Amino acid sequence: SMDMKDMDHDKMKGHMSHDKVISLNDSTGENELKVPTLLARDHEKGIVYTVKAQKGKTEIFDGTESETYGYNGMFLGPVLRFEKGDKVKIRTINELDEPTTFHWHGLEVSADVDGGPHDVLKPGEEKVLEFEVTQEASTLWFHPHPHGKTSEQVYKGLAGLIYIEDDHSKGLGLPNDYGKNDFPLIFQDKTFDSKKQLNYSAAKNEDGTIGDTLLINGTLNPKLTVNKEKVRLRLLNGSNARNYTFKLNSGDSFLQIATDGGFLNEPVPLQEITLTPSERAEIIVDFSSIKKVNNLALINEDGAVLLPFEVTDQNGVNRKIPEKLNDFSLEDNVMHLPVTKKVELFGMMDMVTINGKKFDPERIDFTQKQGDTEVWEIYNKPDMMGGMIHPFHIHGAQFKIISRDGKDPSKNERGWKDSISVKPDEKVKIAVQFKHKGVYMFHCHILEHEDNGMMGQIKVE
Ligand code: C2O
Ligand code: CU
Ligand code: CU
Repeated sequence: SMDMKDMDHDKMKGHMSHDKVISLNDSTGENELKVPTLLARDHEKGIVYTVKAQKGKTEIFDGTESETYGYNGMFLGPVLRFEKGDKVKIRTINELDEPTTFHWHGLEVSADVDGGPHDVLKPGEEKVLEFEVTQEASTLWFHPHPHGKTSEQVYKGLAGLIYIEDDHSKGLGLPNDYGKNDFPLIFQDKTFDSKKQLNYSAAKNEDGTIGDTLLINGTLNPKLTVNKEKVRLRLLNGSNARNYTFKLNSGDSFLQIATDGGFLNEPVPLQEITLTPSERAEIIVDFSSIKKVNNLALINEDGAVLLPFEVTDQNGVNRKIPEKLNDFSLEDNVMHLPVTKKVELFGMMDMVTINGKKFDPERIDFTQKQGDTEVWEIYNKPDMMGGMIHPFHIHGAQFKIISRDGKDPSKNERGWKDSISVKPDEKVKIAVQFKHKGVYMFHCHILEHEDNGMMGQIKVE
């Protein structure tokens, strides 16, 4: 049994204390990392993309096929690249045998195109969405949101990335050669059954499904070949429930340059970074300055090898990462606003609640005025067993962290966020503003918690 020290350590590092810890297998590095395709536009004018939710079979392990879902393919999805100012039209099509929705996580759009649980497309249905991209350069993502089925549909493979670029980001000189020195990394842990097939119902855990096998961009046992240069990695924790603390096995540091919704003001040197489900971070690893590149790998806090790197002898471009990347600020007047919304996260398994209630699609939990900034306090109320981290997410808005338990957020959290980790007994204050109107969700991003009703609704008017 665990002594108190282990419990504290686990809590701090973000393991679930309710459950036994399932560690990840080491990647053997036998497969080169798959890189999602960049989705081509159907037309330049009006910018029409087609995004289809599809089902099919995927050979994840050689020789056996799993039943999987994907966008415009059989597993995972393409990258949609927008520019700030684009007027985007997306034709969404549901080719599954069950209802689904198309949710754009982190995108500041009006609620009628946000793709929450109210926006269901039945099998065979399609809908054209139109919106303008008004936010700054960032790495966002998209996934389904049908209430009670989100966890299963994401687990089966429905997830893709959105890149936003703007004039500023294009002038920074950051690595941006897609698939060469700028890679998306979608981390998802899965469990495979004795036939080496993906089987959600067998793997499912009401408290968050954790697997022992990591897929990155859907690649089993991945490795990544890079040149001796600065490489940008866009990390997405796309897992149902697992938290990761990423580091290099050489002990070298890297630079974090972006949070969920945009660039940090300056690059933050880190030796490790924790991401809870749905959080993103962009980091720069300088493979030209790392001395020992033999057996170099990205590892998890417990030492599990996630992504071995093969560093070629080729030198890449010798670029300088700018010291100033953004002008994000926490205005004094916002810092001192009173708390006007309180969110209490509580429970485990299927007994999870927000402010003592479960999700009810007919109930509006909060209202807020379009354009107003309000301070929300998110409290993770511990239970008798200590509790667990809940990653808290709000739709339709990028927000700012004001404080964690009264203290300033760490340097690498001083940037736009749409999801935050909230530790047991922790109180996090955030400044939230919605640019658009309508009914948006806020919820725990452990997908089984969300499906079990750890979700509320805010009406912006
Ligand atoms: Cu990632 Cu409610 O969403
Ligand atoms: Cu979302
Ligand atoms: Cu939760």
